[in-house]
Amino acid sequence: MENIENLKVQLLSEIVGAKDIKALEEVRISALGKKGRITEMMKNLGALSLEEKKETGKVLNILKTEIERALEEQKEKLEKAELDARLVQEKIDVTLPIRPEVQGRIHPVSKIYEEVVAIFGEMGFEVAEGPDIEDQFHNFNALNTPANHPARQMQDTFYIPNPESENFDDSYVVRTQTSAVQIRTMEKKQPPIRIIAPGRTYRSDYDATHTPMFHQVEGLVVDKTTTFANLKGCLYDFVKAFFELDELPVRYRPSYFPFTEPSAEMDIGCKKTKAELKIGAGDDWLEILGCGMVHPNVLKACGIDPDEYQGFAFGLGLDRLAMLKYGIPDLRTFFESDVRWLKHYGFMPLDESSMTGGLSNNGGLAR
Ligand code: DAH
Repeated sequence: MENIENLKVQLLSEIVGAKDIKALEEVRISALGKKGRITEMMKNLGALSLEEKKETGKVLNILKTEIERALEEQKEKLEKAELDARLVQEKIDVTLPIRPEVQGRIHPVSKIYEEVVAIFGEMGFEVAEGPDIEDQFHNFNALNTPANHPARQMQDTFYIPNPESENFDDSYVVRTQTSAVQIRTMEKKQPPIRIIAPGRTYRSDYDATHTPMFHQVEGLVVDKTTTFANLKGCLYDFVKAFFELDELPVRYRPSYFPFTEPSAEMDIGCKKTKAELKIGAGDDWLEILGCGMVHPNVLKACGIDPDEYQGFAFGLGLDRLAMLKYGIPDLRTFFESDVRWLKHYGFMPLDESSMTGGLSNNGGLAR
C-alpha cells in the first residue's frame, strides 16, 4: 500500500497547484474517482487483518476528508479568481448604440396608453387609478346597476368568492369596466373633476376581438355647467388627435348604459374595403366608444348633489384602438408573448408620445 503521508503531501500540492477548475477536477478524479488512488486504497483494505483494517481505515477516512476539504477550498478560490478576471474583462460601455437585434419593443397597448394619456393630459385631465379586484358596489351598484339589474347581463363577469361571506352580493369581481374608478374618484373628491382612468378589465370572453383580460380608458368630467356639448367637443378633439387627422366625420347614436342618461355611442367615419380599413372620410361607420351624461343616481351614490352638479363620462377599449390604428387583426395575439409579433407591431423604446413631438412617430415604427 502507498505511504499515506506521502500521498497526502503529493495530493495537497497538486490541489494547490491546479491552475483552473478543469485541472482541479483531474486531481479530484485521480484521488477520489472510481479508480482514484484513495479509492483504490480503500478497496484494498479487505486484504488486511482486522486490526490493520481498523487502523488504516481510520487514517484513510481522515485523509479523504482532508483532501475533499482542500479540493473545495481550492475550487472556491479558482471560481472567485475566474469571476474577478471576467469582471475586469467584461466592461460595458453604456454609451454605445443598442444592437438592433437585441433591442426590446414597446407593446402596442402600452403605446396606445401613452398616446391617450398624452392627448387627455394636454386637455387638463388627470390620471386616476383603482384596483383590479373590485367589490360589486364600485363595479356595479354605485354605477346604478344593483344586483339583479338586467344590465348586469351586458357583461360576462368573473365573480370571486368572499372568504368572509357566503352571501353572493358580497362576492368580489375582477373589474369588468374602468367605470368603477369614476366611483372611487367621486368618493374621494368633490367637483370639479376631470379624470381619465386607463387600466385592465376582465370578462369571460374569447375570440378574435375579445380576450378575458383587456384594457379600457374611462373618462369623467363633473362640474356645475358640464353639458353634452362639452362631451361632444372633447371626444371630437380626442379622436382627431388620436387618429392624427385634421378632419374626421363622427356621429352619435342613442344607446343604453345604466350609469349615463342620456347614453350614446360614438362612431367615426371610415372606408371599408376587402383589403383594408381606412379611417377618415368614407361611407361606412365604426363604433369607437360609449358615453353619456352621468346619471343622477351615480352622483348621489358618491355624495355629490345632482341638483348642483352634472357631468359626462365615456369609456373606450384601448386594445380595440390599437387594432384600428395599427391594423392588427387578432386581439388574442396581443397576449401571446411572441417576440416576432412584438418585433413586427412594437415600437422603439425611445419614441415618446407627446402632442408636440408627435403621437405615434411612425418613422420610428419597428416595421
Ligand atoms: N363601461 C362601459 C363598458 O365597459 C363603457 C362606458 C360607456 C363607459 C359609457 C362610460 C360611459 O363611462 O359613459 O361597456
